[in-house]
Amino acid sequence: MNIISATFLCSSQKASQCPAGDMREFAFIGRSNVGKSSLINMLTQRTGLAKVSGTPGKTRLINHFTINEQWALVDLPGYGYAKVSRRERSGFSSLITDYVLNREQLYYLFVLIDARHEPLRIDLEFIRFLGIHGVPFGIAFTKADKLSQAQLDRNIGNYRKQLSEEWEELPRMFVTSSEKGRGRDEILDFIENCLEQ
Ligand code: GTP
Ligand code: MG
Repeated sequence: MNIISATFLCSSQKASQCPAGDMREFAFIGRSNVGKSSLINMLTQRTGLAKVSGTPGKTRLINHFTINEQWALVDLPGYGYAKVSRRERSGFSSLITDYVLNREQLYYLFVLIDARHEPLRIDLEFIRFLGIHGVPFGIAFTKADKLSQAQLDRNIGNYRKQLSEEWEELPRMFVTSSEKGRGRDEILDFIENCLEQ
């Protein structure tokens, strides 16, 4: 799919404030600093469309970007990081759960996972939460450029193993690098396919 236009639409504090209309939404979620905003910029090939930072907690609101005047990419705040309290750090903010559970336009959620790590409890918990609530999602491994192919295969293999203990069918998985543009075609083809359904 060609990205002809990509424009910032709005920031919202909760699902009920998100824009009306029936554009399908493809949203990006994951731990703080995993690379959600970077992936949106990479997919759209617009540097600076979504705000990126080396400091976790950069994205604080639900940010909508209109693509090709037809569908939306949604940048969400990260989980697993909060200055406030340990309780909040280990949980999922109401902003995230509210959007994920109540937003009717949400068509598919990409759960971003840093390819460098062993399976982390917070990510597994979030995936379990999505499963319980029947939210359609896939996994996008990020920062693949920081690993050799062998390390990448091993870490993704660990995730597959861990998830297959709980799931009969594994979610769709994408390997990405916003630095190198890896995974762009796969994700955009997938979205194009969804839009044709
Ligand atoms: P929050 O909004 O704070 O939750 O973070 P985020 O998930 O949106 O992450 P963001 O895109 O802001 O990126 C965090 C840091 O990781 C930045 O320093 C990025 O440059 C870096 N980064 C993101 N994606 C990649 C990647 O694919 N490769 C490499 N090497 N660095 C990346
Ligand atoms: Mg961000």
